[in-house]
Amino acid sequence: MSTKTRTTAGLAVLAALLITLAAAAAQEPTSLKEAYKNAFVVGAAINALQITGQDRRGDAIIEAQFNSISPENVLKWENVHPAPGTYSFEVPDQYVAYGEKHHMFIVGHCLVWHSQVPAWVFRDEKGSFVDRETLLKRMHDHIQTVVGRYKGRIQSWDVVNEALNEDGTLRQSSWMKIIGEDYIAKAFQYAHEADPQAQLTYNDYSLENEAKRKGALALITRLKAAGIPVTSVGLQGHLGLQGPSVETEDDTISDFAKLGVKVVISELDIDVLPPATQQQTADVSLKVEQDAKLNPYANGLPQSVQQELAKRYADLFGVFSKHRDVVTRVTLWGVTDADSWRNNWPVKGRTSYPLLFDRSGQPKLAFQAVIRVGANTKTE
Ligand code: XIL
Repeated sequence: MSTKTRTTAGLAVLAALLITLAAAAAQEPTSLKEAYKNAFVVGAAINALQITGQDRRGDAIIEAQFNSISPENVLKWENVHPAPGTYSFEVPDQYVAYGEKHHMFIVGHCLVWHSQVPAWVFRDEKGSFVDRETLLKRMHDHIQTVVGRYKGRIQSWDVVNEALNEDGTLRQSSWMKIIGEDYIAKAFQYAHEADPQAQLTYNDYSLENEAKRKGALALITRLKAAGIPVTSVGLQGHLGLQGPSVETEDDTISDFAKLGVKVVISELDIDVLPPATQQQTADVSLKVEQDAKLNPYANGLPQSVQQELAKRYADLFGVFSKHRDVVTRVTLWGVTDADSWRNNWPVKGRTSYPLLFDRSGQPKLAFQAVIRVGANTKTE
């Protein structure tokens, strides 16, 4: 370990100690997992450096604060199954072992998605699209192999990710074009077959928006009516400071709860930077040109914005807590601001502040605010 890493790791330990002392004085819980222990598990998406023990500072935060983990990238098709017949399980195995070692609720992300899936999946040797039966077989083999390997160990899988367009219609992905609409039902059936105990989630962004929410509600209703084992809906939660409003978040959770599924907040982060587009989206293919106006806090976040972020986080956790009978997990998409994908999406190279720990691993005002909401929930 370099001197610098050792110093920052030391600072993180010191910060953790200070939080403990301050919280003990105020009789507040010191960790997210403790603060919400009567409500839901609190998770973080973790990256390969954290899984393999190369980010000691990150690991210290994960172990102290969270009781659930999601794999940010290592279980996506392009990483776990990069070539036909070639699976790469080394890091995923370490991911699952990490979660078990710390008695965490372990999430698998994700089985069927249009992004981070290699082109060969949909093509034959000549480069043409394969037929429906061939693609169904490939999907089946993939799910059987990956879910089967971690049967009873990964408790919850994001089975289908982002199948909907903004207007609520089904996205014309290669899955949809080649197999047809029932690719979704098939994916859930295959996952259930591979691990009948696992929770199975439909995961998407912007489900707060009216049209997309309607499409998702109709989709889940159809799946449930056909006896497809979908147990939960994941609201990704890549949100902004301004919206969606807490009322909208509240209504969205209620709407899905009425269908008899659990709700998870699967990828929470809150962007404080100027929006790079008009729509509220988390479409990974979106790319916006760099522009200094879109990166106003490159040298630090003003205290006023820090406070706004804390309030926004507190308000949202208030809604999640209110729905603790249906919300079973809230997962942040990353550990510290330095890790967040938001630094590079939709604009490359911005300095973003969307999480609860800052770039040096220190808890932000938003962390304290979230803890306080959890402490109040506990004593209600
Ligand atoms: C993101 C990762 O955080 C990035 O590291 C990667 O480059 C792209 O994908 N919706 C999802 C997640 O379901 O898998 C995405 O994760 C963010 C949007």
